Amino acid sequence: MTTRKVTLINGDGIGPEVVEATRRVLEALKAPLEFEHHDAGAEVSNKYGTNLPNTTVESVMRNTVGLKGPTATGIGVGQQSANVGLRKRLDLYASLRPVRSVPGVKSRYEDVDLVVVRENTEDLYAGIEHIVVPGVVESLKIITEKASTRICRFAFEYATQHKRKKVSAVHKANIMKLSDGLFLDCFRKVAREFPDLQSEEVIVDNLCMQLVKNPEKYDVLVMENLYGDIVSDLCAGLVGGLGVVPGANIGTGCAVFEAVHGTAPDIAGKGIANPTALLMSSVMMLDWLQLPDYARRLERALLKVHAEGKARTSDLGGTATTAEFTKAVIDAFG
Ligand code: NAI
Repeated sequence: MTTRKVTLINGDGIGPEVVEATRRVLEALKAPLEFEHHDAGAEVSNKYGTNLPNTTVESVMRNTVGLKGPTATGIGVGQQSANVGLRKRLDLYASLRPVRSVPGVKSRYEDVDLVVVRENTEDLYAGIEHIVVPGVVESLKIITEKASTRICRFAFEYATQHKRKKVSAVHKANIMKLSDGLFLDCFRKVAREFPDLQSEEVIVDNLCMQLVKNPEKYDVLVMENLYGDIVSDLCAGLVGGLGVVPGANIGTGCAVFEAVHGTAPDIAGKGIANPTALLMSSVMMLDWLQLPDYARRLERALLKVHAEGKARTSDLGGTATTAEFTKAVIDAFG
């Protein structure tokens, strides 16, 4: 079997801890992967004069696949986020976040199984802001027909391939009539190409309330960048928190797999971060690399550890360290 090279990016905060845990598990899995280590994030920006060195971007382009820890972005003035930069430069236009209840992980619901598809390249994340006059700031929300059509088509194709039944467009077109109106027009056009799938439209504030009341009503949700950022964290809360929700940023030529969570500065360096989300992102990566047997073996081991509840990190109410949880997953390979 050919060995695939993967660009491994530690990131900031708990990034190096969850990346190291994941690397150890993938090595124990004996997946045919070779890791190429590269830097990104706030902690390396003094060394390179940027939080996203060209060598890192070029490595992902060459290998076509990356596995990444979270990177920190300061609030207020400063450099563009390394994440936004990476997604833009590699045109990783689709953020895919499957949100599923994990048996054994305590949460308010038991049967959540939905997918958030977030547009990753435009919207208010274009970062085009300026001071009009002191005390007045303008921030531009960019929505294009091209990007909206592309993300809606991605959502419907994903739904078809994964035997999902319904795609819901999340919007605020009642207020942002032109921008979200364009997004909805694109959604409707694409929906007509997929007559076997149900489609519906839901206003983002109503969606948030419905998700908390009846998350089982939803299947695949597609939305612009900012709504996707916020709704993803809400959805993580439905299944036990950010420690267990994986993600992928997918483009036409390459993909970068990373958890939904950030650098968790409150617990960084303590050795207690939950690596489940990045491990589940690795399951998605193994599937993307067409290594389904390795993906299922890793998934089974993770689910077994959570179902047995013997090793549980503190975010899920346990006392296990990152290293203890990692060992439990490796031991579960049998
Ligand atoms: P966060 O996701 O880092 O943390 C929110 C809460 O969840 C914290 O209490 C944290 O301890 C907990 N948490 C997150 N992941 C966990 C894990 N694996 N195990 C246990 N507990 C976990 O969100 P926050 O505080 O809003 O952001 C911190 C930094 O991360 C910011 O600089 C932000 O820009 C960055 N960020 C980076 C992302 C990325 O690189 N993909 C995504 C989201 C935020």
